[in-house]
Amino acid sequence: MNKSNENQLMEAVISLCKRRGFIFPGSEIYGGLANSFDFGPMGVELKNNIKQQWWKRFVRERDDMVGLDSALIMNTKVWEASGHVATFTDPLVECKKCHERFREDTLDGSEVCPKDKKKHEFTEAKQFNLMLKTFLGPVEDEKNTVYFRPETAQGIFVNFKNIIDTARKKLPFGVAQIGKAFRNEITPGNFIFRTREFEQMEIEYFIPEPKKDSDWEGYFDAWQGEMNSWIKSLGIKEDEYEQVEIPKADLAHYSKKTVDFEYKYPFGQKELYGLAYRTNFDLKNHGLEYTDQEGNKYIPHVIEPSLGVERSVLAVLLSAYTEEEADGENRIVLKLPAKLAPFKIAIFPLLKNKPELVAAALEIYHSLKKDFACDFDDNGNVGKRYRRQDEIGTPYCITVDFDTLEKGDVTVRDRDTMKQERIKITELQNYFADKF
Ligand code: GAP
Repeated sequence: MNKSNENQLMEAVISLCKRRGFIFPGSEIYGGLANSFDFGPMGVELKNNIKQQWWKRFVRERDDMVGLDSALIMNTKVWEASGHVATFTDPLVECKKCHERFREDTLDGSEVCPKDKKKHEFTEAKQFNLMLKTFLGPVEDEKNTVYFRPETAQGIFVNFKNIIDTARKKLPFGVAQIGKAFRNEITPGNFIFRTREFEQMEIEYFIPEPKKDSDWEGYFDAWQGEMNSWIKSLGIKEDEYEQVEIPKADLAHYSKKTVDFEYKYPFGQKELYGLAYRTNFDLKNHGLEYTDQEGNKYIPHVIEPSLGVERSVLAVLLSAYTEEEADGENRIVLKLPAKLAPFKIAIFPLLKNKPELVAAALEIYHSLKKDFACDFDDNGNVGKRYRRQDEIGTPYCITVDFDTLEKGDVTVRDRDTMKQERIKITELQNYFADKF
């Protein structure tokens, strides 16, 4: 398939996700729940690998970052102070004929209803708050209403003092958090692109109070560079995304400058990640401040790289998905960066019904499994096993054959080049340690 056939690409990726256990429709046996998805055995590995790589890069490998895992449901006063109760809204209109509801800013202005593609009248736009509500405790009244967090960021802001008091960090420093966020989106869709429950990987990077614009711009530019190199580490190429500065009129209520990283999805160029200069908006509203070494008190400003986990998964899958001719056949292969692949190595006995081959393959499998994510497969013929491993992006396959029993070596096949080489069993550990 040609990647430029965009609808086909999206369908091919969705179908591979279901077929190979990456992503399933949510609540499927009960007819599903619109726009909800479950990550299967391969999907959870891919998603965890993305999150672990992000944590390693932005928390463990840096001296100026710490982590946090805050509650999903917070005191409603947090959302009043942050401005979300008043302003975290989208304009909602209803088609007077079909009674379907849409986000006004997604209509093209010609009053053609997206439902039946005919010209209809719409109601006046109402501001619809996107926060997902629930009740804490047995009484369902206003007093017990709470919100699921619509961004992980506020958990970081409200813990600012706790972190300063315990983490011994001086400005500039950042706090990172990975976790679920919820939004009652009016128009979710495009597979896992826009859902009502999703995960974010967010950093709030606290900087000294800027005296002039250039003081915060340096930090902003540095984080823009970090985000670019993160995107490349996911195997996404430079021509697959654009960086777009958001016009002043469209900025979120807390932002003075935002640059969106927009991926060229098959359904259009849309936001993958955002980078915002949140000024001191949040800490000020929560009444929090910082005292520096000299005893000066001020409210730090914030640069915020905000990344969606599901959008990362989607962009990674779309970029990695490849169909190509190999030995006169069409093969599907996920050319995932090795770090992200659910399995790093698959081990096969050439024949399932030869106990000596199975035993030798199992021994290699158990030994490599201690250091690398491995799969063992003795189903069908070797060609079929290669096809399965190619589709889930496994970088290397090892086949144990009759020569193995005599010479102590195995065939190692490379996913991308499909080249095979013989490697001694005793060398495998070092061979893969070099590769990964
Ligand atoms: N704290 C800032 C913030 O939440 P945002 O642009 O609203 O900013 C940040 O969201 C990121 O979260 C987006 O760039 C996107 O990756 C992800 N995201 C937002 N809404 C989403 C949704 N409904 N479904 C999936 N991911 C979403």
